[in-house]
Order: sequence, then C-alpha cells, then structure tokens
Amino acid sequence: MSDKAEVRRVSEADYDVVMSIRSGVYGGYDYLPSMFKSLITQSHNKGYASIINGKFVAFCMVSKVDGGKTVVTRAGRVNKQYEGRGLYNALKLYLQKHVFSDGTISSHTVVYDDTNQSMMDKTSKGEFTLLMKRKVIGYRIDFDKMSVIAKRTHTTTNTRTLNEVDLITVFKSRSVCSTLFPQERIICNFVPYRLTERNIPLIFSEVSLIVGTGEPELSFITCGVYYRSENGHTFIIEVYGNNNFIREHLILHFQHALQYYPKEIDILIMCKENAADKIDSEIKECQLSNMDVGFKTVFLVEKNIK
Ligand SMILES: CC(C)(COP(=O)(O)OP(=O)(O)OC[C@H]1O[C@@H](n2cnc3c(N)ncnc32)[C@H](O)[C@@H]1OP(=O)(O)O)[C@@H](O)C(=O)NCCC(=O)NCCS
Repeated sequence: MSDKAEVRRVSEADYDVVMSIRSGVYGGYDYLPSMFKSLITQSHNKGYASIINGKFVAFCMVSKVDGGKTVVTRAGRVNKQYEGRGLYNALKLYLQKHVFSDGTISSHTVVYDDTNQSMMDKTSKGEFTLLMKRKVIGYRIDFDKMSVIAKRTHTTTNTRTLNEVDLITVFKSRSVCSTLFPQERIICNFVPYRLTERNIPLIFSEVSLIVGTGEPELSFITCGVYYRSENGHTFIIEVYGNNNFIREHLILHFQHALQYYPKEIDILIMCKENAADKIDSEIKECQLSNMDVGFKTVFLVEKNIK
C-alpha cells in the first residue's frame, strides 16, 4: 500500500505533534518549543507540516515581514527517520506554490547556521545572496553572578531601554541606519527585518528588550530575546554598532533576564565578524567565561521571488 502524504497548515492545537518531529534542533537552542504558541497565533506567522500516514514528519514556519513583501522560512525540521528523502524540499515546493505566490511577495529570506553545509554550498553557488554573516559567541552565567552585574550602575546616562517610538526614530534616521545597519536589516530572534515602521510591532514582544546608547543619535543598539530551550534558559543578544558600551547593555539585559529566575542562563551574542574579539574581551571583563554553542556563525541569505 502506498503512503498517504499531505501538507497541512498547523494551529496552536498541534503543539505536541509538531514538537514530536525532532529534538535537538539548533544545537538544543531551538526557540520553537517555548515560542510556538505565541508565534503561531500571530497573523504574520503560519506553520505548515508534512504528514505521512497521519504522522507529523516535517515542519516549517513562514513569517511574512516587510509589509508582506518578504517571507522568512524558519524553525524548519524533518524527523530523523525521514531525513534526506526530499521531504523538506517537498514542503518548500508546496509553500512556493501555495503561500509565496500571492503576488505581493518579492523575496524569500533564510537564517541558518554553519552546521547547515547544504545551505552554505547553495549560497556559495549563488542560489541565495548572502546579506549578513554574524559571529556567535556563547557564555554561561549563574543567577548570582548575573545579579551582581545587574546591580551595577551605568557610567553613562545615555544608555536606555528603547520603545517602539525610539525605534521609529532610529529607522527614520539615514545616518543611524547606515552606520548601524549597513545591510538595511535588523535581526531579532533569528528573523531579519527591513528597517521599516511596519516591522516595529513584530520586533517587540514580551520577551524582548532593545537597548540603545547615544545622544542625540544612537550609536549602539542591542536586541535581547529570552526563551527556554532544551538547553535551559537562553538569552540571545544581537549587537549593532559601537560595541564600547556592551557591558552597560549587559546590565539592562541581565535585569530583564533575571525576572525569569534562571538558575543558570546561556547567553548567545551575535555580532559582526570583526567586532567579535573586542566584544568578547569586554564581556570577559565581567568575569564571564565562554561556552561552546555548537555553531559559530549565522548567515542571512535572500532569494528573489518573481
Ligand atoms: C535541515 C533539514 C530540515 C533538512 O531535511 P532533509 O530531510 O535533509 O530535507 P531534504 O531531503 O528535502 O533535503 C534538504 C534540502 O533542503 C535544503 N535546506 C536545508 N536547510 C534549509 C533551510 N534552512 N532553508 C531552506 N532550505 C534548506 C537543502 O539545501 C536541501 O536542498 P537540495 O536537495 O536542493 O540539496 C533537516 O536536516 C533537519 O531537520 N535538521 C535539523 C534542523 C535544522 O537544522 N533546521 C534548519 C532550519 S534553518
């Protein structure tokens, strides 16, 4: 008897079956288990699964950003038993036919890490255009050490938490954007956004914190996102601009992360390649030690959709 295969849009109620597809995604730093329910209920996100004989075997989340002009495919996974049989390609083909072809979408972006050799090969062959390459540096810190750092006071007064209005001002300033975001993208929680006002409500969430330094114009911005992963409490910090203020930003990010009462937390800093050494030595001044994340580089790539 032949297999019965179908692709179906998933809902909040499919949490358990989607999670059963695969564990250990992104080296255990997968955000999907803790964020699935909040993501899937937002109107710009849709999840799709391949089902074979009733079993969920592959999943992909599609986020429409940039006012609907860009689709981001993310959190993709295939059950290990079914891996390498073309299931992810089949799911992508379904999405191309049924989701990407509404006439408004002009580009498709993907964020992947250096464990995904196939995507790296495709990028070097020109199948995707490389937009950003970000270094990943990991640290593990315990609650007590974090509390000590979070109690420190700022040395400058112009480091502050940014709100949506602040980010509108940032996106409107050509000089700030060209300095901080030369690729015209900001990545928050693995999603790349163009610098448009319509993306701002998507960038902010209850688990995110955006911090900025600079007066009158910002010269340094960090985007922090907290979530629980298989590896435990996880905090991603994306860094943009003049990293001299990284330790001041850590104070605010740690104050934010402490509300989740982590016994221990893994901090993953993502930054420009040539800023990584400086950031690492600044952070080590806070007596934080490195941790192996499982991947060292993250790539943002794009493909035009005709
Ligand atoms: C990545 C993964 C989904 C691929 O599953 P698979 O069963 O090998 O899928 P397929 O047999 O269809 O082949 C993979 C195809 O998808 C492509 N692919 C892999 N990762 C991709 C991604 N993030 N976005 C788009 N395409 C991707 C590969 O280049 C390959 O294309 P090709 O056949 O033209 O060479 C699977 O290995 C997996 O679940 N890995 C762990 C989770 C993970 O790393 N996900 C990446 C999310 S960014």
